[in-house]
Amino acid sequence: MAGNWKMNTDAGSAASLMQGLAEWSKENPGHVTMIVAPPFPFLAEAVKMAARAAQGQETPIVVAAQNCHQEEHGAFTGEVGVPMLKSLGVRACIVGHSERRQYYGETDAVVSLKVRTLLGHDLIPIYCCGEKREEREAGRHFEVVSAQVHGALGQLGTSDLAKVVVAYEPVWAIGTGLTATPEQAQEMHDHIRGELRKIGGEVAAEIPILYGGSCKPSNAEGLFAGRDIDGGLIGGASLSVEDFTGLLRIAQRIKGT
Ligand code: PGA
Repeated sequence: MAGNWKMNTDAGSAASLMQGLAEWSKENPGHVTMIVAPPFPFLAEAVKMAARAAQGQETPIVVAAQNCHQEEHGAFTGEVGVPMLKSLGVRACIVGHSERRQYYGETDAVVSLKVRTLLGHDLIPIYCCGEKREEREAGRHFEVVSAQVHGALGQLGTSDLAKVVVAYEPVWAIGTGLTATPEQAQEMHDHIRGELRKIGGEVAAEIPILYGGSCKPSNAEGLFAGRDIDGGLIGGASLSVEDFTGLLRIAQRIKGT
């Protein structure tokens, strides 16, 4: 279960959100993997708090960034490089989020470079894909998502592909209160797994595919029941300890072993 805090929280509220999650994690050993993606300024503190919560526990909190640059370092004012994230203890990074595509012109060509840089430093890329409303209405959603998956991940070898997490986030469902139905989500997850199989063969069966887009405790049950829905990438509901841990509990009940 991954929480994308986006451009929310401040130093105080980020620390208390992280504290709440760390406490919950300590009290619930063996919970499903928890990934949190705070804004850049709060990553260092989040890593420290996650490390404290992890002591003696088998499922520590994975701290992720929300973005990175494709180059390792250099004259790129305002950007953050993967080696910086690595040096802090950040273990994953969201790439290709629809907000990055929409507002910052992120393309699958750039995302594929980011994915390679992340993998080169042993960070887990959380690759987001998903169609816009008009693309679904035109019946092009499978085609659009196929092109995204192949554009960003198509060049990876099997062992690299196995380290990627994919998130399907229909753009029309992000932050809108509209959610894909469990059937719409499952059929797209099944489709994505098929595309991953074309790239990496049997390794596709092991790749976590998360659903994202207005997912919250009240609608998660149906979504997580889908065979190919391995968890969630959560925006709004990840800003509340109660909602986010509620989602972790639901996932644990449905997916936990
Ligand atoms: P949302 O965001 O849960 O607020 O819809 C999901 C996301 O963009 O990752």
